[in-house]
Amino acid sequence: MNASETNLIPIVTIDGPSGVGKGTLAQYLTCKTQFHFLDSGAIYRALAFGAIKNKLALDDLPGLVSLAEILPVEFVATSIMYDAEDVTSKVRTEEVAAVASKVAAIPEVRAALLARQKAFAKAPGLIADGRDMGTVVFPEAALKLYLTASAEVRAERRVNQLKNQGLSANIDQIIQDIKERDERDSTRATSPLKPADDAIIIDTSDLDIDQVCSQAENLLREKSILK
Ligand code: DC
Repeated sequence: MNASETNLIPIVTIDGPSGVGKGTLAQYLTCKTQFHFLDSGAIYRALAFGAIKNKLALDDLPGLVSLAEILPVEFVATSIMYDAEDVTSKVRTEEVAAVASKVAAIPEVRAALLARQKAFAKAPGLIADGRDMGTVVFPEAALKLYLTASAEVRAERRVNQLKNQGLSANIDQIIQDIKERDERDSTRATSPLKPADDAIIIDTSDLDIDQVCSQAENLLREKSILK
């Protein structure tokens, strides 16, 4: 599908750094609109999972690109399937996240995954969650949201999440990890993390998730994406 065809399909992009609440907002808006949902991070994670499974080295460019081209990932309801194996929880590990962030920095890998992501733009519409949804993958989107929050606030949220799972965490270490990842994501040469020029920036530092969802919902109504 080319850009003029996807112009007819309402696309809402949600970009921003890790831990800013994009996933929760994307799920909320997907439920409200009944649109399709693209979790682009899950595609990078699936590629990382496949690279680990196939013992591909991170400097094996042809191997990584070939895998990206035929990546056997499928989204079935809320599950992520890799070669018919349910890998929903396996792709959420720290090991996979670390490899995902490295393969995502390779321009040829990003290019190989572009068409697969664009193919999610189907009627009645799409909610797309990632880092470069509004800047690179869907520059024609009807509404571009960019969520941000300070590293300290995101780290605090992460610590609370871990506490709820009965796990302990060192907040200073988490702040440092978040800052390092932000730096890597924002300074990479291809598709760096940054708001599109026409994105609406929502700073969630002083907002709870309900407030973020209702602000975004209002924006969809203003654009007549939601009636
Ligand atoms: O959103 P996430 O944590 O599931 O993303 C996993 C990794 O993929 C993360 O390192 C950022 C990267 N990513 C990306 O480079 N571009 C996207 N559109 C989505 C994710």
